[in-house]
Amino acid sequence: MNNSSTTAANGWNPLSHPIVFAEPRYLPHSAWLEHIPFAMYAVDVLKPRSIVELGTHAGASYCAFCQAVADLRLSTQCFAIDSWEGDPHAGDYDPDVLGKLRAHHDPQYGGFSRLIQSTFDEALPHFADGSIDLLHVDGYHTYKAVKHDFDSWRPKMSDRGVVLLHDINVRERDFGVHTFWEEIRVQYPSFEFWHCHGLGVLAVGTTIPDEFQTLLQFQDEDEAAARTRYFFFNLGRRHQLLERQEQMRRHIGQLCKDVAKSTEAVHEAQRTISHLQRLVEQREKEVRAAEMWARSIVHSRSYRVGSPLRFFGNLIKRFSAKRSL
Ligand SMILES: C[S@@+](CC[C@H](N)C(=O)[O-])C[C@H]1O[C@@H](n2cnc3c(N)ncnc32)[C@H](O)[C@@H]1O
Repeated sequence: MNNSSTTAANGWNPLSHPIVFAEPRYLPHSAWLEHIPFAMYAVDVLKPRSIVELGTHAGASYCAFCQAVADLRLSTQCFAIDSWEGDPHAGDYDPDVLGKLRAHHDPQYGGFSRLIQSTFDEALPHFADGSIDLLHVDGYHTYKAVKHDFDSWRPKMSDRGVVLLHDINVRERDFGVHTFWEEIRVQYPSFEFWHCHGLGVLAVGTTIPDEFQTLLQFQDEDEAAARTRYFFFNLGRRHQLLERQEQMRRHIGQLCKDVAKSTEAVHEAQRTISHLQRLVEQREKEVRAAEMWARSIVHSRSYRVGSPLRFFGNLIKRFSAKRSL
């Protein structure tokens, strides 16, 4: 039996989970978007009683979990934990990111989900040991930070526990999730996605649904593993492209507004130029009229008759001025 028929025999068929084709209702800019179909698939198969996310930022991943919970009508409690202050890897942070997320999240998911503004460590004591079924770790990505987050939250995982780790395939700057992943993946049943910075799937609990276990049993070299990666990458890529398209639409909208503003400024300048040209023409007419008037005076008979008198008068004025010195 080849790997794909083994997969079918074991009941692993993502097509039997139509939620993987759902359109995300919230698509903020994020390096996570291509994992949305798998996130929704995982929620459908695992039917977790609780989901906790460490690192939510704009909410791309978290809203995918919440949307799946809502659309599948599951009785899942969800918690997003983030300081919403950013970290050295999070890049430029929109100060209103939490406000925007709340505006989308609260009315739709407020009935079963909470956004907790706190550090991961401060939130830790508020969760009982063995109480979390699905944990997504996506905080600061140095080796030390991700190991600390995993180790401190590991006791909170239930016997159905599955942990997702983002960025296991980033090999630049001081990202160290890939190093931590190499250590941890051999300690539990696991599967890794390589696209979209990599997503590690780790079953830390022992009571995992058969279908999900099938995925975790794929070997890297299996055709089934390649097909699974191909399937989820291509589904997720759609979301990434849609978000980029939306970004470009906003950019084009802004450029159109800028062009309209510049066009209005050009029209205003043209109106000013026309006004000034009319003023110049008016002045030229006035100057021509004054010249004609002056010329008519110079050539008039009385002006010419008075010319010797003006000459002697000027001489006398100059003579008397010298004498008074
Ligand atoms: C990579 S972003 C999360 C991305 C998000 N999962 C998504 O779908 O786009 C990491 C987030 O973790 C938060 N963070 C990092 N370390 C933290 C800590 N120790 N406590 C609270 N928040 C933290 C940052 O504020 C940042 O918003």
